[in-house]
Amino acid sequence: MIPRERAFRSILGLLDRHRVVVVLGARQVGKTTLAKAVARVQRRPVTYFDLEDPADLDSLDEPMLVLRETRGLIIIDEVQRRPDIFPVLRVLADQTRPARRFLILGSASPALLRQTSESLAGRVHYFELGGLTTEEVGLVRWKRLWLRGGFPRSFLARSDRASDEWRRGFMRTFLERDVPELGVRIPPRALGRFWGMLAHHHGQVWNASEFGRSFGVSDTTVTRYLDLLCATFVVRRLAPWHANLGKRQVKSPKVYFVDSGLLHTQMQVRLMQELVRHPKVGASWEGFALEAVVARLGARPEECHFWATHAGAELDLLVVRGQSRRGFEFKYTEAPKVTRSMRTALTDLGLKSLQVVHSGPRTYPMSRDIQAVSLLDLEKVITPLR
Ligand SMILES: Nc1ncnc2c1ncn2[C@@H]1O[C@H](COP(=O)(O)OP(=O)(O)O)[C@@H](O)[C@H]1O
Ligand SMILES: [Mg+2]
Repeated sequence: MIPRERAFRSILGLLDRHRVVVVLGARQVGKTTLAKAVARVQRRPVTYFDLEDPADLDSLDEPMLVLRETRGLIIIDEVQRRPDIFPVLRVLADQTRPARRFLILGSASPALLRQTSESLAGRVHYFELGGLTTEEVGLVRWKRLWLRGGFPRSFLARSDRASDEWRRGFMRTFLERDVPELGVRIPPRALGRFWGMLAHHHGQVWNASEFGRSFGVSDTTVTRYLDLLCATFVVRRLAPWHANLGKRQVKSPKVYFVDSGLLHTQMQVRLMQELVRHPKVGASWEGFALEAVVARLGARPEECHFWATHAGAELDLLVVRGQSRRGFEFKYTEAPKVTRSMRTALTDLGLKSLQVVHSGPRTYPMSRDIQAVSLLDLEKVITPLR
């Protein structure tokens, strides 16, 4: 078992402060495992409903009647099976007696489960659980994490080939079972083809009409496919940052596979020697380093941006929380160099400093305000957001 201390403590902390905590994340990232660990340390009674289990699903046929009688910690797993529970939670969340906490787990975003956001606005706290992080598996194992990605079963598989097979199975189940179960009517083959094609655009600016044209469907259709992959946590849409500059800036988002392992499976890359020779190795590394930094910072999706001007200056990641702004570049190289684009980003975005996270072994200053950071020093050099 790989301990997930930070996520575990965050969830316990949230349960102290909020009556309803919703943990969201892709299927198979480890939500149930973590919730069971949380359940084990409770002093209050714990009731667990697994909505994947037909008996538990049936028992919540009349959710109000059943949930009204509970107290302590109530865990409801795979909530996307019964989004109509949310209006009931809303009523119960407003009651102070009996003392009750809800821990809700789901593998689809609230936007997809429309009832959630409307009925629980302001009453719940969301926590997004991603795959295993460099911090959790230990930085010395970062290459394996990069190749196989952070789904625990994929990371822990017996061999690289077994790991790739697991990911193939994951994607098949996702397309053939999970998506239809969400009530989304998209043909699995079309979505699968779209997903494969997206691998070629990993880390690039999203252009719906170009994508639609080469895919042979309308922009709205490809955008719907992208929305779905984002709402199920397998793709990150990184929003563009816009500064008040009088320069033309890129206004479309960038798209990244959240999990490098799924990206590699889509790229038909199974082994490290195949990855390092692949023309997309740089893009893959950028996405991997980006997720590692975002996880280390503890940044929420809406705090993460990229920035680019039409004249060619850009910044891979700009994290904004309150008054604080942090800038990052990701480079697949042993020795990154200061570029004009980095200088422009520092000035135009008013950054105090910029960190260039690279795949080499050394961390060193590149200039007064630019630092080269080895991924191996991530925890030493990059401090979490406060
Ligand atoms: N921290 C971990 N260390 C090792 N294996 C894990 C860990 N978390 C989850 N797993 C394994 O990964 C698989 C998926 O975990 P699960 O908690 O069921 O995910 P989810 O509820 O998000 O679908 C299970 O086989 C589980 O045993
Ligand atoms: Mg689960």
